Amino acid sequence: MKLLLTVLAICSIQTVSSTFCFWNTGCPYKYFSNKTPYNSVRGDIRDSVVKLTGCEPVSIWGLIRHGQRNPGTEFGKHMKEALVIKEHVEASYNKGNCSLCAQDVENLLNWQVNMEMFDKPFQLTKEGYQESEGIGRRFKQAFPKLLEKLDQHDYLFRPAQGAWMADSAKGFVKGLGNKDLTIQPPKTNFDILSPYDTCKKYITDVKGNPETYAPSVRYLSSSEYLASKDRIQRRLGINYILTDTNITALYDLCRYTTSGLENKLSPWCALFTTQDLKVLEYIADLRHYYKSGYGTPINELLGQITLTDLLKSFKDAKSGKGKKITSYVTHATMMDMVYTALQLFKDDEPLSTSQRKADRKWRSSKLAVFSSNLMAVLNKCDKAVDDYNVVFYFNEEPLQSICREGVCTWQEFEDKLSPFTETNTEFCHNE
Ligand SMILES: *[C@@H]1O[C@H](CO)[C@@H](O)[C@H](O)[C@H]1NC(C)=O
Ligand SMILES: *[C@@H]1O[C@H](CO)[C@@H](O)[C@H](O)[C@H]1NC(C)=O
Repeated sequence: MKLLLTVLAICSIQTVSSTFCFWNTGCPYKYFSNKTPYNSVRGDIRDSVVKLTGCEPVSIWGLIRHGQRNPGTEFGKHMKEALVIKEHVEASYNKGNCSLCAQDVENLLNWQVNMEMFDKPFQLTKEGYQESEGIGRRFKQAFPKLLEKLDQHDYLFRPAQGAWMADSAKGFVKGLGNKDLTIQPPKTNFDILSPYDTCKKYITDVKGNPETYAPSVRYLSSSEYLASKDRIQRRLGINYILTDTNITALYDLCRYTTSGLENKLSPWCALFTTQDLKVLEYIADLRHYYKSGYGTPINELLGQITLTDLLKSFKDAKSGKGKKITSYVTHATMMDMVYTALQLFKDDEPLSTSQRKADRKWRSSKLAVFSSNLMAVLNKCDKAVDDYNVVFYFNEEPLQSICREGVCTWQEFEDKLSPFTETNTEFCHNE
């Protein structure tokens, strides 16, 4: 009897400790690649603003990714179809085949779908608007003197094309707290905010080329991915055999229904272990790497075109003809290309399609999160005539890897960006 009790005790302890519960995990994995809520990764410009004695900010230039938006039509369709997996999980749980924790299952069953997520594809969500608004508000507080009063010629705000871009720009401007600011309409042809959209070579050779996505597809047959897929299937214990598309849809349900602002977890994420989430995150890292990062050489050139605007903007500001703030809203693709042009987050080796390196620098969960942003601040210092420096911020933290502590001397800044003025879009039209 005593032995039996001991055996039972060991078994039950094992059952409890070997069951991964999501709802009460102390530190849930919050990195969901390009669908990561901004709050999961951001710093706070008010705390991290670099104050240099004898210097004063005179101009800001920023590139912001749009905030959280609804899934696109195709992904939304798969997510909607995947909702019935909830019922499969319930059946499996009732038969004792599912190893999810009771509370995780209960939370999943109680979860209510908000159909607006599917009915309005690509629409900026309320959270997405608030993300952008928050950035504007914090910048206003961090640079009160500079942004206090903005006259018409003091600023330039422009989104790339798309209603969700325009709405993000509105959020940002609202955060700046000045009702009368005008936002420029998006450009309908060439724009430094999305030079790839009018680049024939990019559209054919990269975006529309299956080779671009081949590395991320290859990873779907890696042992890491197959182990994750198998683990998900076994934990759910459902009869329904999950395809890669189904797993992507479940991952999307997890990340689109997580709230960063309210710090609310999604019960859909309970279907995955942290390891699974890391594997799924890596698939997107590979896509970004080849579609808009170091994996394809012309991406760097496209990013350089955007950065010529930064150089010009600060040169104008130095000569007294500049703006106090220039801020653009654009796509993750553009953000990636700009980081690539600046040689940031660059790994020594290309990303492997068979094995994820845990300490890689290229992480879509940092570079391409909702509302991710790169901001440069031009400071005028009174030490000597014509003494300027440029501080770079990435998601509201000083960008240490660009120059010492994120602060570039004017010379360093100019040396980095001047070569880009040689880049033009001729390569886009060459066969
Ligand atoms: C699973 O994916 C397949 C295509 O791969 C699709 O036909 C099916 O509807 C999906 N099932 C669910 C429940 O999402
Ligand atoms: C539970 O598992 C058993 C044995 O593997 C299987 O026969 C049964 O179909 C499963 N039930 C459900 C609901 O998945």
